[in-house]
Amino acid sequence: MPPTTDDSPIRVAVIGSGPAGFYTAGHLLKDSQGLVEVDMLERLPTPWGLVRSGVAPDHPKIKSVTRVYEKTAAHPRFRYFGNIHLGTHVSREDLLAHYQAIVYATGSPVDRPLGIPGEDLPGSHPATEFVGWYNGHPDHRDLELALDSSSRAVVIGNGNVALDVARMLSLTRAELAGTDIADHALDLLEHNHIEEIVVVGRRGPAQAAFTNPELLELGELTDADVIVDPAELERALAVEDPQTTPTAERNVELLREYAARPPAGRRRRIVLRFLLSPVALLGDPVHGVSAVELVRNELSAGSDGTLHAHATAEHETIPAGLVFRAIGYRGIPLPGVPFDERRGVIPNDGGRVIDPATGNALPGEYVVGWIKRGPSGVIGTNKKDAQQTVDAILEDLAAGERGEARLLTPDSPDPAAVESLLLARQPDLVTYEGWSSIDRHERSLGEPAGRPRVKLTRIEDMLRIAASETPAGRQLEDSDAS
Ligand SMILES: NC(=O)c1ccc[n+]([C@@H]2O[C@H](COP(=O)([O-])OP(=O)(O)OC[C@H]3O[C@@H](n4cnc5c(N)ncnc54)[C@H](OP(=O)(O)O)[C@@H]3O)[C@@H](O)[C@H]2O)c1
Repeated sequence: MPPTTDDSPIRVAVIGSGPAGFYTAGHLLKDSQGLVEVDMLERLPTPWGLVRSGVAPDHPKIKSVTRVYEKTAAHPRFRYFGNIHLGTHVSREDLLAHYQAIVYATGSPVDRPLGIPGEDLPGSHPATEFVGWYNGHPDHRDLELALDSSSRAVVIGNGNVALDVARMLSLTRAELAGTDIADHALDLLEHNHIEEIVVVGRRGPAQAAFTNPELLELGELTDADVIVDPAELERALAVEDPQTTPTAERNVELLREYAARPPAGRRRRIVLRFLLSPVALLGDPVHGVSAVELVRNELSAGSDGTLHAHATAEHETIPAGLVFRAIGYRGIPLPGVPFDERRGVIPNDGGRVIDPATGNALPGEYVVGWIKRGPSGVIGTNKKDAQQTVDAILEDLAAGERGEARLLTPDSPDPAAVESLLLARQPDLVTYEGWSSIDRHERSLGEPAGRPRVKLTRIEDMLRIAASETPAGRQLEDSDAS
């Protein structure tokens, strides 16, 4: 890697502190041989994105990946600025004025809409909200869920999020009590009166997006039987899938096992249904959703061999007081940054943001993770994805040495200047030390009950705990002492 002209490191802003953001920061710091400094800006006081607010509480091993991110955060050329919202406290123009490169790593924070009547009735929830709620995300902690007045819930979608939702509705208090589930969710789920959870796929079992361990663990729940109708299963498998994968074949094997398994009479039933698409949610705005109307589908292959669902004339209605829509996530536009509305991503070529007007890469602007490629893959997928984006940044840095201006030329690349600006705009800025205080506090709350942590779920509580460690807090202490 050639040195920069004046040998001072280039400054990179990473927007978002989930896995994609942290892998980007980690690769940048490792691969640039001292030539890059990273500032990470995060809208919440707390880092880790979906590792904190998306991964189910009963999957603690997946969360242990934060140890890797903690090492990155300890790097002397890394700074964390939490509670900073792009669009409120800082604009794209501010970033252009302070950094040679900007990497957008803001993920896919909202649900994809179903686009059917009744979708917004009370009792119909996007999975994003339910997942955020049980994980203590401040945006969703006050979600109202009628868990005590419904005996059946319908989950739309055949991905891992749908399985997370079904499993979380089925775990016992004893199974959840030792996890980092938000306290409000632990209490409400204990009084969950749901007896049946129907998970509905629009295509067949061989096209489901479940991964094998997640489908396997569904069959190992202590409090729920998994029910699969053998006739529906075989009907859905009647059309051979030319694009089958080892994962799909194992899923089919597991589903055949479930279909052959007699119910053990457990308290709840998780019923896996196939070849059904919701066409309307029935109910009214006062009493909420009362049923889901579905149409039966048939499968047929498109020109590329992909099996598509086609509606038949046959309809079915499933009474349900709760509906969870788990049909995938979607990115949201960032002010001033190009956005592909159709795909819900920032248009890019291998991580370089593309100006839609010219089709050319914008200098110094990059993208990574779900907002780059859409909401697919597991946490580890973001490591490789981040490497691609970092390689593009370092290539563009090297091109600068040959006189090609591919990065930004900021007016004010001074690290102190950007910190002052952020503090002026957001006095409640949370540094990494502030987050470490929150982390220690949450862990200490969890310790007596043998839990990994008890999460703070309100921003004001997080800020109170972080305050003594923020620069503003330190200034306050200094002036108190003088
Ligand atoms: N434990 C884990 O590792 C874990 C946990 C949670 C999430 N994740 C990952 O996070 C990513 C997102 O997961 P996800 O479950 O949100 O999305 P996903 O894997 O993309 O699954 C979305 C599901 O919704 C269905 N769908 C889409 N539009 C629909 C419509 N209009 N009507 C009915 N069904 C519709 C899709 O069916 P079609 O196939 O027919 O489009 C698919 O079955 C995935 O990569 C997932 O593996 C991993």
